[in-house]
Amino acid sequence: MSKIHQIILIAMVVMSCSKNEKQVNLDFKVSDLQTEETEAKIQELVAKMTLKEKAGQMLNIGLPAVLKGEYWDARDSVNFDGKKFKKFIVDYAVGSIHNTPQYPATREEWFKIVKEIQDSAMQKTRLGIPVLYGIDNIHGANYVNGSVIFPHQIAVAATWNKELSRLGGEITSYESRAASLPWNFNPNADVAMNPLWGRIAESFGEDPYLISEMTNAYMQGSQEKGLQNPTSTAVCLKHFVGYGVGRNGKDRANAIIPENSLRQYFLPPFEKAIENGAMGIMISSNAVNGIPCHLNKYYITDILKGELKFKGVVISDFSDVEFLVAAHESAKDMREATKFAVNAGIDLLMNPYDADVVDIIVDLVEKGEISKERINDAVTRVLRLKFYLNLFEKPYNNPGEYPDFGSEKHIAANYQTASEAITLLKNKNAVLPLSSNKKILVTGYASNSINNLNGAWSRSFLGRDTTYNDPSKLTILQAIKKQVGAQHVDFIEGTDYLEDINSDKAVLKAKNADYIVVCVGEIPASEKPSDINELELPKVQQDLVKKLAKTGKPIILVMVQGRPRIIKEIEPLVDGIIMAYLPGQEGGRAISDIIFGNINPSGKLPYTYPMYSGNAVTYYHKKTDIRDINWGYDGFYPQYEFGFGLSFTTFEYSNLKVSKDTLVGKEDVKISIDVKNTGKREGKETVQVYLKDLVATVSPDSKKLVRFNKIQLQPNETKTIEFVLVTKDFENVGIENKWIVEDGDFEVQIGGNSKDVLKQQVYFKN
Ligand code: BGC
Repeated sequence: MSKIHQIILIAMVVMSCSKNEKQVNLDFKVSDLQTEETEAKIQELVAKMTLKEKAGQMLNIGLPAVLKGEYWDARDSVNFDGKKFKKFIVDYAVGSIHNTPQYPATREEWFKIVKEIQDSAMQKTRLGIPVLYGIDNIHGANYVNGSVIFPHQIAVAATWNKELSRLGGEITSYESRAASLPWNFNPNADVAMNPLWGRIAESFGEDPYLISEMTNAYMQGSQEKGLQNPTSTAVCLKHFVGYGVGRNGKDRANAIIPENSLRQYFLPPFEKAIENGAMGIMISSNAVNGIPCHLNKYYITDILKGELKFKGVVISDFSDVEFLVAAHESAKDMREATKFAVNAGIDLLMNPYDADVVDIIVDLVEKGEISKERINDAVTRVLRLKFYLNLFEKPYNNPGEYPDFGSEKHIAANYQTASEAITLLKNKNAVLPLSSNKKILVTGYASNSINNLNGAWSRSFLGRDTTYNDPSKLTILQAIKKQVGAQHVDFIEGTDYLEDINSDKAVLKAKNADYIVVCVGEIPASEKPSDINELELPKVQQDLVKKLAKTGKPIILVMVQGRPRIIKEIEPLVDGIIMAYLPGQEGGRAISDIIFGNINPSGKLPYTYPMYSGNAVTYYHKKTDIRDINWGYDGFYPQYEFGFGLSFTTFEYSNLKVSKDTLVGKEDVKISIDVKNTGKREGKETVQVYLKDLVATVSPDSKKLVRFNKIQLQPNETKTIEFVLVTKDFENVGIENKWIVEDGDFEVQIGGNSKDVLKQQVYFKN
């Protein structure tokens, strides 16, 4: 494809994004599939099932359990083990399968895998019920070789562009279904309040409203055409609930979540997605207040299935019934753990290795320790999702019917997402963009690796295997060389993730350069391997920057990382800072295009970037959280504020208008603001609206995000942007743990980040 074609294609995607953006209406519904006819079919089937068949439907095994060799063995092809295959697929008639072969299968290979499973399940078992295949295609169809690999969710959140989240959901669904994979363990609706948490990259960040909007937009892209459509996948929201706020920041650590916080911050992203027809929810592996989520009946049955009226499948996380024994020490054996989990409301048990739980469930029901009604409820939900997905009629899809798989159109959307995510955090003396005819030294751990850009869950779980990288994708170094010509670029690694390689040589090379681009970052990781003991950027990477700074050459720091690693010592030493997150396969190009000004950056932080590891506070906090040692209230010291991000142009906010001084009862209020592009370049800006309750019985938060809108402005252009706020926006969880609004003053705050805002007061009266 020629450069000019690429530009036209990107322009088409951009145009369709900005055109569609206004139309992203998250009040879509897919739940209308719940017809009397479908429910009757389900009940007819349930009535025919034996207890063992029902328990079989409640089991989700891992694919390797039916392959030759040990579960975690490396294999280079898919070889079903005849004996194991018969045991699980035919004798136990398992309801569901997840996981991958130990290499990323192509869509054609996936087709063969799924077809063999479905044909056996449907032809060789008594009732012929198809299997529900679930997969972690969490940033693009990352487990299907040849698919586009999108930025991780944290970067999608940084675009503040709902249309891009929707498009990501749509493309991921399409490319998953091209591989006959109908159920996706995504999106992640965790509220990531603890910056130490290794899976922040997989979340939409710290703000419940932003998370909710992005989760729903993604879900809209996945499901809006209807689950029967062969390009849709059903979502499985995860992890319910509180995974992102483990007390010590470690994977699956205990979280302390009081009831009012649960309702104020953690439930809303799930609530709206359930209203919109989410049909899968995965339970979080951790405990909340010491109670493992997998046995928390109050959370699963009372809140999720009761209050929130969730009609879909509640699936356990990986081995988490077993973990009630081994990790949580809350059940004495697998039998007790299974009883607790099923009685708490779990419908599908992700028990990767064996089928013991099926026999255990049968025994527990026969002995009256689990009721028949509970089992029927669980099976009904699993079958409901299978009917909604039309698996009885179309258990797999022809991979040849997906001409857009990995297409230029999808690549353009991926590039667009990466380029709108990347966030410019510092630009001293307008050092950026760089001009193309200077000598550049590129160095640093993340500068020449596709795996760093992609992060975990990229062809393999940890995303560290280089075997399956697409050679046509560019690292940051390669993209810079392509941009300015290899003769202008020098390169040396400098450091590894935690070790010095040749930092002294990097300093020598720096002396001949006009600019230094130093790319630091995190090793690709998720879950346990992503745990860290300190938030500081690894010392060796900071030392490289310190040494380079002594040369006096201007430095551009590029950060390729999910978490906000502490950079307070090196921040003053560099001239430009680009936060790239984990920008995916097109990230190298997008970073280079921002460095050299082909793209005007427009990303904004979806979390607060802390300056000190001992002061990691979300932008929403209580006044007492930020009391400083002088007894004042200035102890909130972020390196960068939530919602912050620079552009190569500047924006001016003026003329904030609130339509009423006093709001009575259920009245709406209109807000408007003028935003002007005061610089010389066209640019995009995210206008953010916050509300601050000035006085409330439950100590009010510093502020909360209630609306945002990403707009595009030409130089000198002014747009008046309007928002409508409703009573619900003013409500917070009160002392009785219910959403209420107390009479009193609120401040409406609007700006381009959470700190620099214009304010106006409005009085709310019930
Ligand atoms: C992760 C989930 C994932 C599941 C299945 C678990 O270990 O916590 O996010 O969906 O594995 O792969």
